[in-house]
Amino acid sequence: MSFLVLDKLTKAYGDLNAVSDVSLSVEKGEFVSLLGPSGCGKTTTLQMIAGFIDVTRGRISLDGKDITHVRPNKRGLGVVFQSYALFPHMTVAQNVGFGLEMRGVGKAECAERIRETLSLVRLDAFAARYPRELSGGQRQRVAIARALVIKPPVLLLDEPMSNLDAKLREEMQFELRGIQRKVGTTTVMVTHDQSEALSISDRVVVMEAGRVTQVDSPYRAYERPENRFVSQFIGKANMLAGKVTEARHNEVHVDLGHQLTGIACIEAGTVWREGDTVTLCIRPEKLHLCKVGTGRLSATVTSRFFLGSQWLYRLDTAIGEVLVCSQNEGTEPVAEGETVGIDWHRDAVRVIQEASHG
Ligand SMILES: Nc1ncnc2c1ncn2[C@@H]1O[C@H](COP(=O)(O)OP(=O)(O)OP(=O)(O)O)[C@@H](O)[C@H]1O
Ligand SMILES: [Mg+2]
Repeated sequence: MSFLVLDKLTKAYGDLNAVSDVSLSVEKGEFVSLLGPSGCGKTTTLQMIAGFIDVTRGRISLDGKDITHVRPNKRGLGVVFQSYALFPHMTVAQNVGFGLEMRGVGKAECAERIRETLSLVRLDAFAARYPRELSGGQRQRVAIARALVIKPPVLLLDEPMSNLDAKLREEMQFELRGIQRKVGTTTVMVTHDQSEALSISDRVVVMEAGRVTQVDSPYRAYERPENRFVSQFIGKANMLAGKVTEARHNEVHVDLGHQLTGIACIEAGTVWREGDTVTLCIRPEKLHLCKVGTGRLSATVTSRFFLGSQWLYRLDTAIGEVLVCSQNEGTEPVAEGETVGIDWHRDAVRVIQEASHG
């Protein structure tokens, strides 16, 4: 039995289901991210786990006990909200100690736990400061300390990094993951930032319009997206539409038009038939540019973007626009207007099932 279990969790607001039949099992000590675009139901799901929003249908259980209708303070979960408002008139130590005081923890133990938790988030030296005297990243660590100090069975984080600039955000992602590993608290984090979810989670739960569309390790969600939405929400993807001309036990041939056949490996459990309409998904970094006249496809560079470690090219081809991402090797990149070839390895191609299939 998993530690935290959501069973067909549903939240309706009038006719709208903000969350529909969300089922998820989180293991003890796991770090899981709810990932999806704005309005897909991430916060609503998290708030139902915390107990701040009533469940319309479905069940939540924690460590084998049904907590669906247990009041939030009795669940005792650690929560960091989307806007992690600290108490402005309290020092860092008082902010962190607030939850302990509310629980009637004695003074000496309080002081020890505050010290311990501030040390965990590397704010030992800031105990006497007020929130206004802290940087964004430091405030954010106070909010995490405030949630962790009560030693919650589950830590719930709603876009905890959203107020930080890009650089600090990245640092805090590493830090948060480090803290979580150290204390081993089961964590559910909400984010709409795919790179954040991929870099720090054990598993990502991709949501679309109130529903879960894929639950997987970050690597698998990126490499083996199960549908068009996931492949385009997590990273960039070239989506090539075509018809199956030949389906064997482990590979499928797809007519992409213009005499171009795409060959893709198929995974166990999926079945394709001749005539099926499918989409081939190829990540831009799995395509490479080659000499004009070679490769599978002829293309003209329409624009290019420098991304620091990589170059991103947009190319015009017979089958439409194609994105190619190549490593910045420190050599001159291909110029706009130049004609080149595009090639790829067949292992780079994934077949995506379209809604009309089957
Ligand atoms: N109290 C409410 N009454 C009616 N509809 C609501 C209420 N709260 C949320 N919703 C709707 O439920 C849907 C899901 O909202 P939710 O806040 O869970 O989205 P989210 O995934 O957290 O989005 P964001 O990334 O913007 O924070 C949205 O369409 C929202 O408008
Ligand atoms: Mg939200």
